Amino acid sequence: MSAHGEPIPMTSRRAGPLTGEAHVPGDKSISHRSLILGAMTVGETKVTGLLEGQDVLDTAKAMQAFGAQIEKIGETWHVHGVGVGGFLEPENVIDCGNSGTGVRLIMGAMATLPIVATFTGDASLNKRPMARVTDPLALFGARSYGRSGGRLPMTIVGAKEPMPVRYATPVPSAQVKSAVLLAGLNAPGETVVIEREATRDHSERMLAGFGATISTEDTDEGRVITLQGRPEFVPQDIVVPRDPSSAAFPVCAALIAEGSDVLVPNIGLNPTRAGLFFTLQEMGADLTFENMREEGGEPVADLRAKFSPDMKGIEVPAERAASMIDEYPVLSVVAAFAQGRTHMPGVKELRVKESDRIDAMARGLRAAGVQVDEGDDWWTVHGRGFGDVAGGVTAETFLDHRVAMSFLVMGLATNAPMSVDDGQPIATSFPIFEGLMAGLGARIERT
Ligand code: S3P
Repeated sequence: MSAHGEPIPMTSRRAGPLTGEAHVPGDKSISHRSLILGAMTVGETKVTGLLEGQDVLDTAKAMQAFGAQIEKIGETWHVHGVGVGGFLEPENVIDCGNSGTGVRLIMGAMATLPIVATFTGDASLNKRPMARVTDPLALFGARSYGRSGGRLPMTIVGAKEPMPVRYATPVPSAQVKSAVLLAGLNAPGETVVIEREATRDHSERMLAGFGATISTEDTDEGRVITLQGRPEFVPQDIVVPRDPSSAAFPVCAALIAEGSDVLVPNIGLNPTRAGLFFTLQEMGADLTFENMREEGGEPVADLRAKFSPDMKGIEVPAERAASMIDEYPVLSVVAAFAQGRTHMPGVKELRVKESDRIDAMARGLRAAGVQVDEGDDWWTVHGRGFGDVAGGVTAETFLDHRVAMSFLVMGLATNAPMSVDDGQPIATSFPIFEGLMAGLGARIERT
């Protein structure tokens, strides 16, 4: 797991143009949910295209600890689950590594069962707030005992006689929404989650796919999601689409590396995930959607990104934040190569990701010669235009895979190389990053 090995310092530098095709791995959010929902289903769920990143592998191990059988045969993952309400009590502590999604969704899934489980993670995860999940789980009747400030390690005592819940999420978070919905599966009657801003809706789509009765309604209060408890799940064959959040790295690299032309095929453009690509287009990026189609009920396209020396800074609408929340680090890098200011409001959640992403990116950008202003829930990158970003520094990555990949993308276009102190966390979400980028012609090396 990322936090336990030796750091892997890495450096990237300008080279020739990036060209060719970038086949990015499966979607991390959908991969976690495939394993968790498969584990809650009697019978065999088959998953292809699963992201084999450390975060997802940690979730697979956790599901085994709760009683599911999971094995990979050829290219297919086979999950034999225990049924809704069938989780066993794990014999040992559940280590979710670096993954907030893993730990929060699994806490939800077990919180309405008469079992006890203890969760921990790496140094990054053990700093992150869990009260946002344990507060609503307490309404179902679950109890939690963690470190001060609601941090891991934490023990959850599941509710023996869970009550269904009606809960308005106080922060825009798909993890919180999903934890409540998964808890609602084991409660009788109707569990309702209300979110003011729409966050990624993979849980809703997949719960419906497995056979739950779930509906979504847009109202004045926000998006109201209603789930009937105690469904019988039907095993699924799941083809995991490629991850738009991983696609962001080769796309942004192509936009800033001179002469580049890169195709990133088969990327899901679910509107709750695709905000970055529309933002880049507004900035004047030469980014096109080719071969638009529908697959498994989701819009999908091949993304073509070409070197874009004339991008302009923009105001990124706050309402778009949830649909690109994981992409702000790499957007801030592109913004450094655009002309003028890119202002990014409504992004308080960035402060509680794998790292405080505003702080982590602002430090590295400033050291590399880019002015960044910040407030609690906004930041502004003052773009220097193409060819005028100094680089030549080592950025601290704070155990954050997206911070590491963002600075390595940046180094492909800075005047002097960019280094990161530790590229190891990249394996949590994008284990083939180095090989994929090298295949496009990038010079990213371990140092
Ligand atoms: C995720 C939700 C988002 C996102 C994370 C994955 C999910 O987190 O940042 O990478 O799969 O539900 P929040 O729910 O905390 O916004």
